[in-house]
Amino acid sequence: MNKSISGFSKLSKSKKIDWIIDTYFSNKEEAKHILKQYWNSDDKLQQLHDEFIENTISNYYLPFAVAPNFLINGKLFTIPMAIEESSVVAAASKSAKFWLDRGGFKTKVISTRKTGQVHFMYQGDDTKLTDYFNSIKSQLISDAKPITKNMERRGGGIINIELRNKTKDIDGYYQLHATFETLDAMGANFINSCLEQFAKTFKNEALKHEPFSSEEKNIQIIMSILSNYVPDCLVKVEVSCPLKDLTENDTITAEEFANKFIQAVAIAEVEPYRAVTHNKGIMNGVDAVVLATGNDFRAVEAGVHAYASRNGKYSSLTHVKVENNVFTFWMEIPLALGTVGGLTKLHPLVKLALELLHNPSAKELMQIVAVAGLAQNFAALSSLTTTGIQQGHMKMHLMNILNLFNANTREKETLITHFKTNLVTHNAVAEAIKELRRKE
Ligand code: MEV
Repeated sequence: MNKSISGFSKLSKSKKIDWIIDTYFSNKEEAKHILKQYWNSDDKLQQLHDEFIENTISNYYLPFAVAPNFLINGKLFTIPMAIEESSVVAAASKSAKFWLDRGGFKTKVISTRKTGQVHFMYQGDDTKLTDYFNSIKSQLISDAKPITKNMERRGGGIINIELRNKTKDIDGYYQLHATFETLDAMGANFINSCLEQFAKTFKNEALKHEPFSSEEKNIQIIMSILSNYVPDCLVKVEVSCPLKDLTENDTITAEEFANKFIQAVAIAEVEPYRAVTHNKGIMNGVDAVVLATGNDFRAVEAGVHAYASRNGKYSSLTHVKVENNVFTFWMEIPLALGTVGGLTKLHPLVKLALELLHNPSAKELMQIVAVAGLAQNFAALSSLTTTGIQQGHMKMHLMNILNLFNANTREKETLITHFKTNLVTHNAVAEAIKELRRKE
């Protein structure tokens, strides 16, 4: 067993690396070389990244790519995407181009409300608690003024606080259920700070509330935290075109394509095994833009998947219909995003990504991210229901396999040409490289 260590976080970066290398690696020189290879040569930029989190020893690169030609509500965008998976950016670009010629993407923000909760335990008379809450509600809001005044000046702040009785689920369990408008900020720190202030006021004032018995005065705060379930922070995205325009080539008719596409969505609507993969494809696009713009993809993932189960069964996020010979494909997803605060002004690539997107507001970014998700799903379903996914995916993955075999530029050129007309599999590439090298 490897040894444990105390005081690791207090060590310098180089001492941390020394300990890791000594404890875990047999080829110590190589391990150190790899870690250092990813350091930035600009010391200030490296320090910035080192200070984002704790115990940093190197940087972890993801490719940063762009997908051009996205027409969104009549305006053209080139969308930045940070993702490691082959073929996602190619699929996004293909979808963008397809819809560019068919009117583009139409989007609309439906709502922007976020939620946070103070979870607490109260043993006593429910009516007395309701009376106490009603008497203290305005103080909950006024005590939070130092936190909310700047946000209020810009038009946001606390929307409402409700008392919720959850004693049917857990004996004595109640919530302060609060809703917020955080404008261009994702708002996690703002919401959590408000909630912690609500909790403080709520607990302290209860101690002085005359009608309470001594047990009732003793409200126990369990925790105060925002919710990443944001069904009221919702954006809609849609594409549509005359049915006859739905095909690009003569391998399949527009009607056949639409029929298979509609069935594919219907399957994802009723079959959770398929729905998860279907939605995963949507998140390929969503997460890539969320990451490139410095937003919290774990929060977005958690919220989107919860939303996909809101009717009690995990289901497709996208929907499709053909009416009056018009094909319409759409999705509504919850996205709590920020374009100020967090890493947005700090991470140079995030700043660049936002500038590329014309420095969007949070509402505009919600729309762009949703577009990337719908585009991705359109591309995935188009491939799955026609050529199959592997043809395009393996073509894009070919370069990874070639790199695995340390193919040089000449070998890459030869084999890329070869695999234009041959099926790409790991074995086929391995054999082809062997054969090429044997001939030399
Ligand atoms: C792969 O990352 C995503 C897909 O599996 C999505 C889908 O099946 O719809 C291609």
